[in-house]
Amino acid sequence: MPPGELLPLAALASGRGSNFQALQDACARGAIPARVAAVVSDNPRAPALERARAQGVPAVVVERKDYASRAAFDTALADAALAAGARLVCLAGFMRVLSPVFLERFGGMVINIHPSLLPAFPGLDAQKQALDYGVKVAGCTVHFVDAGVDTGPIILQACVPVEPDDTVETLSARILEQEHRLYPKAVALIAAGKVAPPAAGRVARVTAL
Ligand code: GRF
Repeated sequence: MPPGELLPLAALASGRGSNFQALQDACARGAIPARVAAVVSDNPRAPALERARAQGVPAVVVERKDYASRAAFDTALADAALAAGARLVCLAGFMRVLSPVFLERFGGMVINIHPSLLPAFPGLDAQKQALDYGVKVAGCTVHFVDAGVDTGPIILQACVPVEPDDTVETLSARILEQEHRLYPKAVALIAAGKVAPPAAGRVARVTAL
């Protein structure tokens, strides 16, 4: 981004929206050179939409049931984000896998946050998977999105300890605190041109901020 310009991003959220909130807070206090241009949700009851409206961020609903195919739905999602002016898409608890139809519209500028140290524990209930496995260190990952589930090139990771008496709730809360720190940091790296979507099959090279 040229100095002084803000990178417009769209947050795609299906639920609570605390990661959208962390991005919005970081943008609002000028901590990162970005702005949230819209929240797009597939769930009309997502609390993320309420959070967006409360802060004057455009909130858009695109429901799967209104489209005949996954491709048409993904196209509508991309249209909504692009219409808001977004140049980066941040998946923030978005509960659907995006097809290449969507990813191609953004030239790879689609990132996700996942509550595990990928490639361990992709998919649903990552914190429970970590506890069930018995790992002693857990964490979160921000990565570029590809056509797989939680498989794209890693941008940043943060770790937390797993305590002997942890439950899914206590571990999730400890990881979430790191998510809220890590996601804005990853957006800042992208906005500053310190990391970009790599060619297929390559790792993402991150230059220090
Ligand atoms: C987070 O744990 C995120 O890592 C995962 O889904 C959860 C979304 O939480 N992808 P929120 O809606 O951002 O509060």
